[in-house]
Amino acid sequence: MKELLGLLAVVAILLSGLALVVGLVFIRRGDRVWHPRAMLTATVLAALFLVFYLTKWGLYGTTAYGGPEEWRTAYYLLLLTHTVLAALNGPLALYVIWRAFRGEFTAHRRWARVLVPVWLYVALSGWVIYLVLQRHGVATGTIAF
Ligand code: HEM
Repeated sequence: MKELLGLLAVVAILLSGLALVVGLVFIRRGDRVWHPRAMLTATVLAALFLVFYLTKWGLYGTTAYGGPEEWRTAYYLLLLTHTVLAALNGPLALYVIWRAFRGEFTAHRRWARVLVPVWLYVALSGWVIYLVLQRHGVATGTIAF
């Protein structure tokens, strides 16, 4: 169950990143119908990621890094930036969507251009963290970094 929840979480965040890129391609082509559809799909997938991730966290605690010492600092830097940006991603996404639904597209575009790279970084770094912990993870069973 623990492995399944972890896998579902990273698959959801990967698909969310893909839907984001697809949504970007749509708006670059001027498609104002499929752009919001793809972006709202990306948002639902990111919310699903959060559900899977938090369920796993609540049930099984965290996994600590147990790999080579020389990579420890780099790993925790990646984890820190991933966590901070993931926390920022949620409220920023809601703000960007809210602006779009209000028809305030100048503000929507301005903040969306900040949001998109943040989102992609979170999705990609999430995968890197997952792969590192698959190989070098040590279950702690406690809620701590
Ligand atoms: C998380 C959700 C969303 C993200 C990340 C996002 C991202 C973006 C980005 C990056 C652009 C600028 C593209 C460029 O300048 O080349 C853009 C433009 C646009 N978005 Fe979104 N979008 C989202 C949701 C929505 C929604 C829900 C709607 C409609 C209700 C929408 C409607 C538009 C429109 C109409 C534009 C063109 C604005 C203009 O050119 O003035 N977007 N979006």
